[in-house]
Amino acid sequence: MIRFDSVGRTYDDGTVAVHDLSLEVQPGEICAVVGPSGCGKTTAMRMANRLGSPTTGRIFIDGRDIATEDPVALRRGIGYVIQQVGLFPHQSVRTNVGTVCRLLNWDASRIATRVDEMLQMVGLDPDQFGDRYPSQLSGGQRQRVGVARALATDPPVLLMDEPFGAVDPVARGLLQEHFHTLVKSLGTTVMMVTHDIDEAVRLADRIAVMRVGGVLEQYAAPAEILARPSSDFVADFVGSDRVLKGLVRTPIVGSLLDAAGSQTVSASPQLHVGDSLRLGLSCVLGEPSGSVSVYDDGQLVGALTMDAVHRHLRRPTEVA
Ligand SMILES: Nc1ncnc2c1ncn2[C@@H]1O[C@H](COP(=O)(O)OP(=O)(O)O)[C@@H](O)[C@H]1O
Ligand SMILES: [Mg+2]
Repeated sequence: MIRFDSVGRTYDDGTVAVHDLSLEVQPGEICAVVGPSGCGKTTAMRMANRLGSPTTGRIFIDGRDIATEDPVALRRGIGYVIQQVGLFPHQSVRTNVGTVCRLLNWDASRIATRVDEMLQMVGLDPDQFGDRYPSQLSGGQRQRVGVARALATDPPVLLMDEPFGAVDPVARGLLQEHFHTLVKSLGTTVMMVTHDIDEAVRLADRIAVMRVGGVLEQYAAPAEILARPSSDFVADFVGSDRVLKGLVRTPIVGSLLDAAGSQTVSASPQLHVGDSLRLGLSCVLGEPSGSVSVYDDGQLVGALTMDAVHRHLRRPTEVA
C-alpha cells in the first residue's frame, strides 16, 4: 500500500536526513517509525505526502508512483495528523473535522452527518463538544479532533507524526486503544512516527527503527524486534532488555493460547503452561510454522504464536 523504494533525502545544506530507505506497509497495517530525534522520521513521512521530495528513489502508494500524481489531489486522499495537532484555532470543532470533506465538495448535510459520526467514533459527544473552539478542549480532546478530522473522508492511508505527544500518560493509553480499534475497523493503512517505543509496540504491526543519518536499522514485528534486535543500537533504543525481563516474569497462561487446531503436534519444541513467555517467544521465533504446542499436565491445551506474544505486549494487564 505504501512503498519506499531506496528513498534518500539530502537537504540543500548537505544534511543527509534519509538514506536509502526501503520499506513497505501492507494494506490495513500500522507501521510505526521510531528512532532518536533528528534521525529523519518527519522527513521520511512528509515525503509520502509530497510535502518534500526524495533526492533519490521513489515512493508508491497503492502501486502508483506519487511523483506522477497531482500533489493536492494526492493529499486529499491521505489523512494527515501532525505533531502539534494543527487544528484551526478560529474554527469550531465541527468545522475543523469537516475540513477535508469541504475540500472534496461534499454537500452540507452529508458533511454534518459525517462530522457527528466521526466525533462519536473518537469518543467525543457532538452536542457537548461540536461547537467548542480548540482552546476550550484538553490536549487529549484536541488530539481526538485531529484524528477525527484526518479520518473523516475515510482515506485509505493515514500519516501521523507524534500524534499523541501532547496527551498525558493516562489519557494517552485510552486514546491509543481507541485509535487502534478505530483504524482496524476502518481498515486504514497507517504510517506513524513516534519517539515512544511503548506506543509503537502497543499500536504497530511492524516497527521501523531508524538511526541518525536516516538509516533504517530494522523493520519487523514488535515481538521480533524485541527478541531479536538486529544491532546493539536497536537493542538499546527499544529497551529490549527491559521488555524481555518482563516476559521472564510472565507465565504462559491458557488465555494467551490459540486453539491447538490441526497444526502438527511436533515433538519439539514443547512448552508448558507456567513456562515463561520469554522462553515461549524464543521457541516461537525458532519454529518455522510460528506456532508451538503448549501442554498442561501432559495434555495438549493450545498453541503459542507470535501474534499472542504481541497481543500480550500490547495489553500486558489483561494477562498478568
Ligand atoms: N529544512 C531543513 N533543512 C536542513 N536540514 C533539515 C531540515 N529539516 C530537517 N533537517 C535535518 O534533517 C535531519 C532529520 O530531521 P527530521 O526528519 O525532522 O528528524 P526527526 O523527525 O526524526 O526528529 C535533522 O538533522 C534535521 O536537523
Ligand atoms: Mg520529527
